[in-house]
Amino acid sequence: MSATRSATPIPTLLAVVAAGALATACVGARAETPAGGEAPYVEARTPEEAGAYLVRAGSCDDCHTPGWPESGGTLPDGERLMGSPVGFRGPWGTTYPANLRLSAAHLGAKEWVAMIRARNDRPPMPWFSLHAMSDRDLAAIHAYLRKLGAKGRPAEPAIGPDQEPTTPYILFAPVPPKAASAGNTQAKAPASADANPAIVGGHVAMAMP
Ligand code: HEC
Repeated sequence: MSATRSATPIPTLLAVVAAGALATACVGARAETPAGGEAPYVEARTPEEAGAYLVRAGSCDDCHTPGWPESGGTLPDGERLMGSPVGFRGPWGTTYPANLRLSAAHLGAKEWVAMIRARNDRPPMPWFSLHAMSDRDLAAIHAYLRKLGAKGRPAEPAIGPDQEPTTPYILFAPVPPKAASAGNTQAKAPASADANPAIVGGHVAMAMP
């Protein structure tokens, strides 16, 4: 009798575990397809308000508004999101954070979302973070940028790794620690192209601006 009693709960337990695994799989599937109907989105009184929240929480100003991090995020709206004349230079070339107010002004909401979904290009723009947002949230960002209004000039076009920038730029490349330049070969080792795949084409040796 005792054998029968102890055997009964096992299939039950397995069924519970299986059901749990299935539920987890479903949740995972939803999270992996943020563009779908069930994608999460930010709720606010208006799309513009949701967009303002997403832009601020998403740190878009860090790159698209010069001086934003230094100001502690306190620059007035009139000075925000007009792109940066200072490039980011790395193995990908030199890229310039775009004037998002002009980009949004030139595109309708649907075109804006399609443009973002179609792009996956150069660093340090975190395209993967934008791609993780639902269409509704991307449209909310568009609505907010439209509310800020078209202002400023378009950013410089990006240039390739072999081209010399004509603007100031921020170098995005690992620099060996001081110990390495003083001849400590152990410290130097991680900065070699073999040891660090982030260094491509010897960009670590590039002179600072
Ligand atoms: C770490 C810096 C950085 C951050 C943070 C950042 N961007 Fe960018 N962004 C860039 C750079 C650089 C480019 C230009 C990329 C290129 O030329 O390939 C760019 C380009 C873009 C473009 C293309 C616009 C066009 O018209 O070409 C969009 C849209 C964009 N960013 C939106 C955003 C949004 C929305 C956020 C916040 C969620 C954000 N970015 C955060 C650096 C950044």
